[in-house]
Amino acid sequence: MSEVKDLATLIRAGTGLIVIETPEETRAVETFRHVFTQVMRPLWRWSLTDGLKRLDMDDDGAEVPPDATATLMAIKQHPERGVYLLLDFHGQLRYAMTLRLLREIVERQGSAAHTLVLISPKVELPPDLAALHTRFSLRLPDAAALAKMVREEAFAYSREHQGKRVEVDAAAMKAIVRNLAGLSLADARGIVRQLIFRDGAICQADLPQLAKLKFELLNRDGVLHFEYDTAQFADVAGMARLKDWVAKRRAVFLGDNPPPGLDPPKGVLLLGVQGSGKSLAAKALAGGFGVPLVRLDFGSMYNKFHGETERNLRESLKSAESLQPCVLWIDEIEKGLATSTSDDGVSKRVLGYLLTWMAERKAKVFLVATANAVHELPPELLRKGRFDEIFFVDLPSAPVRAEIFRIHLGKRKARVEAFDLDALAAASEGFSGAEIEQAVVGALYAAHADGGALDPEHVLAEIRNTRPLSVLMAEQVQGLREWARSRTVPAD
Ligand SMILES: Nc1ncnc2c1ncn2[C@@H]1O[C@H](COP(=O)(O)OP(=O)(O)OP(=O)(O)O)[C@@H](O)[C@H]1O
Ligand SMILES: [Mg+2]
Repeated sequence: MSEVKDLATLIRAGTGLIVIETPEETRAVETFRHVFTQVMRPLWRWSLTDGLKRLDMDDDGAEVPPDATATLMAIKQHPERGVYLLLDFHGQLRYAMTLRLLREIVERQGSAAHTLVLISPKVELPPDLAALHTRFSLRLPDAAALAKMVREEAFAYSREHQGKRVEVDAAAMKAIVRNLAGLSLADARGIVRQLIFRDGAICQADLPQLAKLKFELLNRDGVLHFEYDTAQFADVAGMARLKDWVAKRRAVFLGDNPPPGLDPPKGVLLLGVQGSGKSLAAKALAGGFGVPLVRLDFGSMYNKFHGETERNLRESLKSAESLQPCVLWIDEIEKGLATSTSDDGVSKRVLGYLLTWMAERKAKVFLVATANAVHELPPELLRKGRFDEIFFVDLPSAPVRAEIFRIHLGKRKARVEAFDLDALAAASEGFSGAEIEQAVVGALYAAHADGGALDPEHVLAEIRNTRPLSVLMAEQVQGLREWARSRTVPAD
């Protein structure tokens, strides 16, 4: 048990303050009973309800009131160095007296070389203590322990349902155990219980639910959003090259052992004109790989948690990794990385962190970033090798426009056969996909107002009344194309 050894080493090295964040308090305390056999120092446990109790022998009679100050005072004065497990103590750190005493003990100001161990699901230390502590993570359960727990929960279900057996699909069981990796036993158990009690079975249908529950658990206060509606490539007209690229890489991305010489795909950057379907393509990528999609909201990462941007990015990326395989989508990446000078270098550091993560990540997290203001993108991001490929999503060609009309008319239950798609495509030269969709929607309203069914004339009238962005902003679009020519690969 290496965690026992590691903790023993920390204690022998004279570590004053160890912080263990875990929902598994009982297991943490049990671990220290093993640590005791190695370090042979008095082991104490404190909680607000029980006060201070000695664990390695019967209470030695030192009656200390349970409040935090009295406890720390007693610890400070105890001549023999000991190991003190303080459960849920972080709530006490609001008080100046507690904080001061804790600090004096940890810095050995007039006290023996004790080791204090804070154990809680979450411990946030005030800045003056932050420099004095060592964090320690309890080992997470391995596949065997997780599988055992799933079996226990299946038995528990049977017991509570007059012996009704839980139907177990072996492949799903394996996938579930694999997907629970990275969670504490208690968290994993909570999820498995929900999965089993839902339908009395362990089956493939549990996997999406598992992904969602796990994600919610890991991203309690994060800036990642689980996107429930991914798209399929069938919903996306054009982008043949991008689709082909993904199809060729799907097996390697999802497989466990990449063939020799092939690196698993890591991510793409989609640049292009507004409304050309970049966001849609990002969703379809997740659908194409058949994995969950999470979106990182760069904007709120900056705004909501002022001063905590980097920590947030770190935690978000960790949550995404825990969900692997998945697609991580950063929409409008330029908004978060604009190299402005006004933010004390935060965006520079965020960029640095992101680039390092992109280079080093081992998890099956496929990154899709989308952007349209290419001039605001930091050049580091565009350098060769960062993304596997940078795709340029241009305005749709005539055949693609016809296909977009077909998709959107079909979605809205129009009789597609009644429409001359080529004529619509010809009339909508310069339209983006979004503008085509808007024309269809507008036509539907017009038809509704006429009290009749949608006919081609409604759509053509909408097209005539639309001045597409590519006309209003012709220079910008042209500039973007020229910029893209030498730097990107066309998506279509
Ligand atoms: N190639 C396409 N095939 C089908 N629908 C499309 C296509 N391009 C755009 N659309 C439609 O237009 C909508 C808007 O497109 P989307 O939001 O993906 O564009 P975008 O490139 O992300 O734009 P922005 O730069 O404004 O974020 C899509 O939800 C979809 O309905
Ligand atoms: Mg978009």
